[in-house]
Amino acid sequence: MFAARRAASTTLARGFSTSAAAPFKCAVLGAAGGIGQPLSLLLKGNPLVTKLSSHLSPPSPFSPTRFYTVSPYVLANVEQLALYDVRGAPGVAADISHVNTASEVKGYEQNDIKSALEGADVVIIPAGVPRKPGMTRDDLFNTNASIVQTLAEAAAQYAPKALIGIISNPVNSTVPIFAEVYKKAGVYDPKRLFGITTLDVVRSSRFLGEIKDKDPKDVAVTVVGGHSGVTIIPLLSQTEAGKDVAGEAYKALVHRIQFGGDEVVQAKAGTGSATLSMGYAGARFADALLRALDGQTNVVEPTFVDSPLFKDQGVDFFASNVVLGPEGVKEILPLGPLSAAEEDLLKAAIPELAKNIKKGVDFVKSQ
Ligand code: NAI
Repeated sequence: MFAARRAASTTLARGFSTSAAAPFKCAVLGAAGGIGQPLSLLLKGNPLVTKLSSHLSPPSPFSPTRFYTVSPYVLANVEQLALYDVRGAPGVAADISHVNTASEVKGYEQNDIKSALEGADVVIIPAGVPRKPGMTRDDLFNTNASIVQTLAEAAAQYAPKALIGIISNPVNSTVPIFAEVYKKAGVYDPKRLFGITTLDVVRSSRFLGEIKDKDPKDVAVTVVGGHSGVTIIPLLSQTEAGKDVAGEAYKALVHRIQFGGDEVVQAKAGTGSATLSMGYAGARFADALLRALDGQTNVVEPTFVDSPLFKDQGVDFFASNVVLGPEGVKEILPLGPLSAAEEDLLKAAIPELAKNIKKGVDFVKSQ
């Protein structure tokens, strides 16, 4: 059935390719949560939006602002969406499975993580507790560290070759936790593990677009470092729209990008953190992984990976632009020229990142 669909969908759904598409299995762990549900829905695809997608021109190879709600790759290439959660996944799966796109959706309960993971090409993980007002992402460490460790142990056993995207906070620590579990299991491949920092990229593009009165799709901002407070470093000097933002306006914009999540946490008044925008950002990152798996070249996204860039300063993981390929990380791109203000942001980020990463590593090593 999948082979037939694959052949039929080759040019129609993708719109701009003639090569055969491989069908992929995509698993979402934590699929019934605030992020998991919209993320799963976006992965399933919206047929109306798909119709629009057939009229889109091909994305420019290095544009991180491509409009990702339209995800022809997901529609054409996800043969099975495996939704796993400790509660509620079968209900979410039943609901989403009625959306009339081709992929099959299955929900898995707590005792069936093996079936959710086996054969998965891409695994996206938004499992864990979110922040409440007044909390930092690091305050989530104690609860989420154990959740991510448990899921990493399962993935190491049942899907050791999958590309893994971690959303669970604090990303600066949960990615190192995942890596340590894989090392213990003897299956660690640094090319296949990603911390999803795409929401920072999405926010930067939106916030800069707002103050410059530009359509965000024309405003690409690379965000490097990590995913919490001062570790989030938007490289505004490298963008046409952002390079002349200076003084108080610059400080306010950087602060809004670094602490934009707090706006949502406060507005939700104790009921959670960003879920819908994160679902969108997570779907965009999953889409990038799928396009890379499918052999598209020049897929570039900022993401938090095992990186050589600042290892000499005790920072083993760092977010920067990464060229993605069928094996995961193809090339980690250098930061490029930084302004004096960005050099200062980097100086502030490095010790915090080193601390966050060590905390994750120590958590696993101490057991
Ligand atoms: P939520 O509480 O609405 O959903 C979390 C889901 O995870 C729940 O359905 C829960 O049952 C499930 N879960 C808990 N333990 C599990 C386990 N062992 N296995 C499978 N599922 C499990 O939380 P929300 O708002 O969806 O946030 C999830 C995580 O994402 C939080 O840690 C939050 O801080 C983080 N986050 C990350 C962002 C990023 O940019 N990377 C942005 C926003 C949130």
